[in-house]
Amino acid sequence: MYQNITIVGLDDFGRGICFINNKITFVENAMDKEVVDVEITCSKRKFNEAKVVKYKKQSPNRKNYACPYYSVCGGCHIAHFTYEKQLEFKKKKVEEILHRYTPYQDMKIHSILGSEELYYRNKVTLHVWNNKLGFYKKGTNELIEIENCLLLDPKINAVIHKINAYLKKNKLDIKEIVIRSLEEQVLLIINGKITQDFINCMGNINIVVNKKMVFNQDYIVDELLGNTFLIKRNSFYQVNKKQVARLYGLIIEFIKDRHYQNVLDLYCGTGTIGICICPYVKHVIGIEKESSSIESAKENQRLNHLSNIEFIEGKVEEKIDMIQGKIDLIIVDPSRSGLNRHAISSIKAIQPKDILYVSCDPMTLARDINLLSDSYELKKIDLVDMFMNTYHIESVCVLSKLK
Ligand SMILES: C[S@@+](CC[C@H](N)C(=O)[O-])C[C@H]1O[C@@H](n2cnc3c(N)ncnc32)[C@H](O)[C@@H]1O
Repeated sequence: MYQNITIVGLDDFGRGICFINNKITFVENAMDKEVVDVEITCSKRKFNEAKVVKYKKQSPNRKNYACPYYSVCGGCHIAHFTYEKQLEFKKKKVEEILHRYTPYQDMKIHSILGSEELYYRNKVTLHVWNNKLGFYKKGTNELIEIENCLLLDPKINAVIHKINAYLKKNKLDIKEIVIRSLEEQVLLIINGKITQDFINCMGNINIVVNKKMVFNQDYIVDELLGNTFLIKRNSFYQVNKKQVARLYGLIIEFIKDRHYQNVLDLYCGTGTIGICICPYVKHVIGIEKESSSIESAKENQRLNHLSNIEFIEGKVEEKIDMIQGKIDLIIVDPSRSGLNRHAISSIKAIQPKDILYVSCDPMTLARDINLLSDSYELKKIDLVDMFMNTYHIESVCVLSKLK
C-alpha cells in the first residue's frame, strides 16, 4: 500500500492521476487534490492502475451517490463528482484535447448545456443469467442483479421490477432483454422463448419476440420539436430526449437565418436532424448505413408530410460521391469512430460553405478537425451533456470554409 498520495489531476475517463515511484498511476474514484492511501491493482510497463484504500483528504467537489451498483456495473463513471464539477471536467477535457491535437491552441468552449436530472435514459440492454436479470460487472461476464437503475426512465425500472418478480417464481429461457420507453409507451424486445403467462405479467406494454410483434405493436412513437418520430425495435434514437431536443435546438438556431439551400445530413440515423431542419432549408439528403434506420427515416418523412427531404441507404464513404449539385451545408453526426478518410476527402471536394460536426467522442473529433483544417476553420464549439454521471459528452462544432 502507498500512503498519503496526492491526486494531481484527472484523466479523460474521470480517474485520479498520481505518480508512484515516478510512474503515472490512474486511481478509480479519486479526485484532483485529494490525498489517499492506494493499492496498485494492475501494473503495466508505462502505467499503473490503483484503487483507494483510505481517503485522507476529500475534495469539496465530491458527493455521495446512492447507487448500490456504482463502480461495479461500469455504467456511471463520475457520479461522485458534484454536477458543477462534472460540467467543469467535461469542458476542460474537450478544450485540452482540442489544444493538444488541433491547430486551435486557444479555442474556448462557447457553452455547455447541462441537465442534472437522473432517470434520463430511454433505452437499456439487460442480460439474463441463471434466471437473474442485470448488467454485467465492468469488464466481465459476471452478472449483477439489478432492481433499479438511477439513470433509467422510471417506466423502464417498473418493467425491470415486473420481470424480477416473474423470475422469482418462473424460469425464463432468454439471454438478453432490451427495454425502450418514450412518452407513456414501453417496448420490450426479447430474443428467446417466452410464455403467455410472462406476457400477461408485463401489463399493457408492447412486446417484440425474435423480431416479431407478439403484443400490441412493434414500435413506439415520439414527439420531438413538433415532429413525430416512429422508433422501431432496432432503430437508432438518442437516449436522453430532453437533452437531444436542446442539441437539435442548437443546430436549428445556427441554421435558421442562414438561408441554406441544399444540405447533407450524413450518418442520419432515423432522419431526426434532417427532419427537424426541413422548415429552414430548401432540400435535405440523409445518408445512413443501417437499413432499419433508413426504413424508419422514410416512414418519419411520410408521417411529417415532408417533400424536401430524401434518404440514401449505404455507407457515407460509398455514397457521398453520388451527390450532385451544389451543397452549402454538411451536417455530420458519426459514431465514436468519427469520419472515414475517404468521407473527409469527399466533403472537401464538395466544398460546402459550412460543416456542422456533431460528435460523441472528442478524440476522433479533434483528429477530424485537424484533417479538415487545410480547408475548414473551426469557428465555434458548444457542448451538450446528454449523459450525466458518465465521462461522455456531445460536441456541436461549426466549421467554415477558408477563404
Ligand atoms: C450517433 S448516430 C447519429 C444518428 C442521428 N444523426 C441522430 O441524431 O439520431 C450515428 C449513426 O451513424 C450510422 N453510421 C455509422 N457508420 C456509418 C457509415 N460508415 N455510413 C453511414 N452511416 C453510418 C449509425 O448506424 C448511426 O445511425
